[in-house]
Amino acid sequence: MSHADCPLSCKKNELFSELNLKRLKKDIDSHARQRIEDLRRQIEEHNRLYYELDQPTISDAEYDNLVRELKSLEKKHPEFQIQKSVTQKVGAKPRADFAKVKHNVRMMSLDNAYSEAEMMDFEKRALKNFGSSGDRPKGWKYFVEYKMDGLAIELIYRKGKLEKASTRGDGEVGEDITENVLTLSTVPKTLKTPLNLEIRGEIFIEKKDFENLNKERQREDLPTFANPRNAAAGSLRQLDSNVTAKRPLKMFCYGLGLPLDCKVREQSELISFLSQLNLPTNPHHALCSKMEEVFEFYHRVRQNREALPYEIDGIVVKLNDFRLQEEIGSTSHHPRWATAFKFDPPIAVTKLKDIQIQVGRTGVLTPVAILEPVSVSGVTVGNCTLHNEEEIERLDVRIGDIVELVRSGDVIPKILRVREDDRKKSLPKYKMPEMCPSCGTKVVQEEGFVGRRCPNTKGCPAQILGRLIHFASKDALNMEGVGPQWIAQFIQRNWLKNPSDFFALTEQQLLTLDRMGEKLAQKLIASIQSRRDTTLGRVLYGLGIFHVGETLAHKLADRLHSLSDLLKITKEQLLEIEDVGEVVADAILKFVKENAAEIKKLEMLITFQARKEKSGPWLGMNFVLTGALSSMTRSEAQTQIEDLGGTIQSSVSKTTSVVVVGEDAGSKLAKAEKLGIATWDEKRFGKELKNARS
Ligand code: IVH
Repeated sequence: MSHADCPLSCKKNELFSELNLKRLKKDIDSHARQRIEDLRRQIEEHNRLYYELDQPTISDAEYDNLVRELKSLEKKHPEFQIQKSVTQKVGAKPRADFAKVKHNVRMMSLDNAYSEAEMMDFEKRALKNFGSSGDRPKGWKYFVEYKMDGLAIELIYRKGKLEKASTRGDGEVGEDITENVLTLSTVPKTLKTPLNLEIRGEIFIEKKDFENLNKERQREDLPTFANPRNAAAGSLRQLDSNVTAKRPLKMFCYGLGLPLDCKVREQSELISFLSQLNLPTNPHHALCSKMEEVFEFYHRVRQNREALPYEIDGIVVKLNDFRLQEEIGSTSHHPRWATAFKFDPPIAVTKLKDIQIQVGRTGVLTPVAILEPVSVSGVTVGNCTLHNEEEIERLDVRIGDIVELVRSGDVIPKILRVREDDRKKSLPKYKMPEMCPSCGTKVVQEEGFVGRRCPNTKGCPAQILGRLIHFASKDALNMEGVGPQWIAQFIQRNWLKNPSDFFALTEQQLLTLDRMGEKLAQKLIASIQSRRDTTLGRVLYGLGIFHVGETLAHKLADRLHSLSDLLKITKEQLLEIEDVGEVVADAILKFVKENAAEIKKLEMLITFQARKEKSGPWLGMNFVLTGALSSMTRSEAQTQIEDLGGTIQSSVSKTTSVVVVGEDAGSKLAKAEKLGIATWDEKRFGKELKNARS
């Protein structure tokens, strides 16, 4: 290559002109300034991740390199030195590599539940893992504790002396924080008895102390902690244990690593054992024999949590008996014998793409939010119900809005609120349609009913499909395998219009459908035919009478001897049934009038199973429970009453025989007194139970 061809040397010539030298210096300065700013930003961000979130994303060595580079650049360019630089702040990097500690027994995490339904699933799973089909073995009790919002640590005592303290780390290996833990006044350095123990518990900081700590840090121009948990974590992982010593860290012990000298066999015993050794334990806990009691504890704690001096994010429910725990075992991540029952379900943020209208089996129009799919506590959600027009108005939700989504209660996702600040332009308010989207009939708004309905009961395709799906569904006729896809095809082929048509379907017909094999056809027909033997309650529910839900259907069934009795029932008789008022009675009578032929057909096709007759000394007596009983839970009281033949009512009316009154009884007691209905306090209730049984 010739000299003239060399691009570098040409550039070099140009570069070394005087003018260009000046330009070059300016360039270098500007680069340096940019780099300094960049480094400051990065370090600030890493400080935030470390201090506020306790979630560093780079290693200590990488962090050190950034700080070193910044310091050197600031030295070379004092003109860019500023007072506020991270290098000027006290304690910008109080970090160090802690020695590693391998735990003798893995420090596990907990699974989470957010609703009573999820807790029932937890119990079911635990029973299954134990090998029980549903019965609770002897000694199956739950020990419930507060879920402290701090960080887990392990303490190792040798001959009664605190020898080692470590963080949880990844569960297998944690960090050695012995020096720091030795500065905590709540953790005994020596035990009363010279035992060998591996204790686990939570380090936390009280709310008041957290606020004071942040105020102090603000005065010192140090980054503040985002919450007490991060403050506790940041304080514990200090290189200088003098810093930890000044932080008001507390601890509650709740578990064991290797049992060593601890011979207890129950969680409740463990807590007493620890507290007798002067190890700090939380005095708030309970031993529950049933899930209902766990729920009572949960609700009470949840209500009072604001008043607690520290933050908790739920309760921890543990099987009390260690033998049962061992039999049930753990996954690699969490024990199967314990779970956290959390207070606040996680929130996801997503966009509302559209609102679609679904027409239900009774013609009710339900708006459904179509969402940009988003994961909420591990489940991808693409749509959720908006219930009705009132809910849309309450949320003021509009198509295009950014919404907060939560999976709460019964695990059904719902929109919590709209992020109005994120509303880009003024979006139009949503208007419910005037016409049924399925059949085009003008919709109606009935008095006393929040939603809109399509009145075309007989001809609306969406209603017909919905009714037949409902008839076959689990809580109605329970036709296994006969799902919405098949039912839609049966309707399309004109084989199905009314519920009774299900029983006329044949294998030959089914075999003409796409993706239908002989085996499947046989299975579906067998499933349908087997349901000709069922209960009156299921059929009444399956008919999908407007306003008649599952409970009322079964109550109605209790009053009738056969399905065709419906044809003779009067309004007065209906009004005698609890929960049946004018509107419901009228709806039932209207249904009967319009569907008399179908009712007769079903009566012929179905063999109704005999009802289990109620019996006992309290037969015919109606009970209402109000307030809390101290000797038993509400559901225990309910079972005892029903076992004696009594019926439980949800509200006091003139048909009520007795109101059982516990602590803090409310309006039900007042109503009972007004109507002159007998009231039993807990003592009298106990006596009456005893008398009735003898
Ligand atoms: S028991 C294997 N009990 O919650 C059992 N943990 O989400 C696991 N926690 O890592 C621990 N309060 O840091 C237990 N009363 C309590 C607790 C508790 C708070 C923390 C602990 C654990 C995390 C799991």
